Amino acid sequence: MQDILISFFIFCIASSQLLGIVYSKTTFDVVKFGAVGDGQTDDSEAFVKAWKALCGAAAAGDDVPTLTIPGRKTFLLQPSEFEGPCKSKSVHVQVSGNLMAPKTPDAWKVCPPYSWLSFRNVDNLILDGSGKIDGQGSAWWSKALQFHRCDHLRLSGLTHINSPRSHIGIGTSNDVDISHLTIIAPDESPNTDGINVANSTYVYIHDSKIGTGDDCIALGTGSSNVRIAKIACGPGHGISVGSLEDGAYAAVENVYVRDCSFNGTQNGARIKTWPGGSGYARNITFENITLTATKNPIIIDQQYCNGAHDCAKQSKAVLVSNVRFTGFRGTCGNEEAIKLDCNRISGCQNIELVKINITSTVPSKKVYASCNNAKGNSGSTVPTVSCLKYPTRPFI
Ligand SMILES: *[C@@H]1O[C@H](CO)[C@@H](O)[C@H](O)[C@H]1NC(C)=O
Ligand SMILES: *[C@@H]1O[C@H](CO)[C@@H](O)[C@H](O)[C@H]1NC(C)=O
Ligand SMILES: *[C@@H]1O[C@H](CO)[C@@H](O)[C@H](O)[C@H]1NC(C)=O
Ligand SMILES: *[C@@H]1O[C@H](CO)[C@@H](O)[C@H](O)[C@H]1NC(C)=O
Ligand SMILES: *[C@@H]1O[C@H](CO)[C@@H](O)[C@H](O)[C@H]1NC(C)=O
Repeated sequence: MQDILISFFIFCIASSQLLGIVYSKTTFDVVKFGAVGDGQTDDSEAFVKAWKALCGAAAAGDDVPTLTIPGRKTFLLQPSEFEGPCKSKSVHVQVSGNLMAPKTPDAWKVCPPYSWLSFRNVDNLILDGSGKIDGQGSAWWSKALQFHRCDHLRLSGLTHINSPRSHIGIGTSNDVDISHLTIIAPDESPNTDGINVANSTYVYIHDSKIGTGDDCIALGTGSSNVRIAKIACGPGHGISVGSLEDGAYAAVENVYVRDCSFNGTQNGARIKTWPGGSGYARNITFENITLTATKNPIIIDQQYCNGAHDCAKQSKAVLVSNVRFTGFRGTCGNEEAIKLDCNRISGCQNIELVKINITSTVPSKKVYASCNNAKGNSGSTVPTVSCLKYPTRPFI
């Protein structure tokens, strides 16, 4: 009987979470702080007031103070900052309604780094709900939603649309879990990365659908111990390590990407570093990847240069090593399915391609792999990669 009661209780908690019902004893509703939610009135001040109340709340026991943003309303917000640290160990922001950016922001409220909504120094922040975050495509901010120093962040459920540049930025945060997001931007919109990660460790991004005009996920310098799983990416530029900047020190390591699909994307799995940098990109695995008309399914570009920069011959490079691509299958839009373009200075070390089967979208066409200065092993790979040893040992 007790078991049944406990199961029932767990069932209630689980279903109430699904229905978005809040059980915190300490809740704050933005509407009670003066937010109107008619899509016209500037609700920024009400949100900042409500945030202050939430962040200053001392909850009893394990109670997590919760800020609710009710559904069926659209809240217009100017660029706003939500600062911690908060009094309670954890705070919860539950977004049921829509948050909308103005077409043009109040000029004086926009200060670098031009994030629209930013959360700073908030530990154990839970941001979830079925609401929508609409950046309105205005070219003012580089990030629609930025998290800086938000350890143990939990972000889930929301839909992010029309961000002018990057949708979500994670900076200097440890132990981050991002899931069940839908990110949508037009295919042709430039620099609309889905999720950018930098200077952060133990980041897990999973079970999300990302379609944008640039990278679905980009891992910038200082990213380590990042896991990415079950991401449906497309359109967009795939999942990228880098670009790791020009002339600067860059370090990315321990990245594990699995069970992802790329549909109609420009790239699939990509590592790109600028010439002239220093540092490393190492211990990176891409596993079980499904490709549908992906232009460049596998690409390492150690001499990345996009024309806007002076990429004269450099004597340094970001070291690329211990990279494994395994279980890739599907179709490729270009003839060059695999591109390992490493520089002459350091080359790429210990690159492994295993169980790859990439065919052209056009059945009669052959695809090929190109290779510069890459060293490593390969097994059961179609097309074959001439510069890798094949096979050196049995692959499992
Ligand atoms: C990462 O951290 C370094 C050092 O604190 C800082 O200079 C750099 O701007 C940060 N990069 C990003 C993208 O946040
Ligand atoms: C490589 O990265 C994975 C996580 O993706 C980690 O579990 C493993 O310990 C790392 N290996 C080394 C040698 O650091
Ligand atoms: C491979 O990834 C797909 C999702 O793209 C998933 O459904 C499938 O279970 C994965 N296969 C294995 C063997 O993990
Ligand atoms: C790929 O995307 C196209 C266009 O959105 C869609 O029609 C198709 O079903 C998708 N294919 C797969 C395998 O997801
Ligand atoms: C690769 O995939 C194609 C298309 O699905 C299939 O016809 C072919 O037999 C596969 N090749 C290998 C070596 O698995």
